[in-house]
Amino acid sequence: MQKPVRIAPSILSADFAALGREVEAVTAAGADWIHVDVMDNHFVPNLTIGPMVVKALRPHSRLPFDVHLMVSPVDPLVPAFAEAGADTISVHPEAGPHLHRTLQLIKGLGKRAGCVLNPATPLSAVEPVLGDLDLVLVMSVNPGFGGQAFIDSQLARIAALRKAIDALGKPIDLEVDGGVNPETARRCRAAGADALVAGTAVFAGGPGKYAANIEALRA
Ligand code: DX5
Ligand code: ZN
Repeated sequence: MQKPVRIAPSILSADFAALGREVEAVTAAGADWIHVDVMDNHFVPNLTIGPMVVKALRPHSRLPFDVHLMVSPVDPLVPAFAEAGADTISVHPEAGPHLHRTLQLIKGLGKRAGCVLNPATPLSAVEPVLGDLDLVLVMSVNPGFGGQAFIDSQLARIAALRKAIDALGKPIDLEVDGGVNPETARRCRAAGADALVAGTAVFAGGPGKYAANIEALRA
């Protein structure tokens, strides 16, 4: 069943020189989750945030930390992010040889487990583990950078996942990440998504705009 929409600002678009304050600002502005994009310059061509930064940010918000790991191999880093204060840990099936084992590792650490599908990753990659997941994340851009254009072909995949989740009858979150703005947000929700990651669209205009930006994505 599609839940009321949750907005997850991606701090990739925040001011990295003031991350603690930025996390506080989006928390006060009505965000539901804090989305943390972890990149290793190997799985994706960019380098961002490690577990030490997540740990440092943890006291700055009471919201769940939605940690998106774009690293390979992924298993060796999962415990450090769990320890640092991640609430949901999402991994790409391509990031390790044993997706089911990785999901067990995440759940064994008491965290919510997510699986992320790149724009060209077949939906069948998630099908065998759907019942083990708390969240499915559909990438509507190729991972690595903020500010890219939404890939329309992902809408049909969101709709297919909505059906699969509803058929299973489990409360699995269906999240979308990349190029989400008020217009694409509406289409994602119509397709069945119930959680939206947004970097550019939330952080545009600075702290004074965050509440209105988040509200515009919800509307
Ligand atoms: C891309 C990241 C996204 C990205 C979204 O690899 O996973 O979370 O920051 O940024 P926008 O909203 O600017 O497309
Ligand atoms: Zn992300």
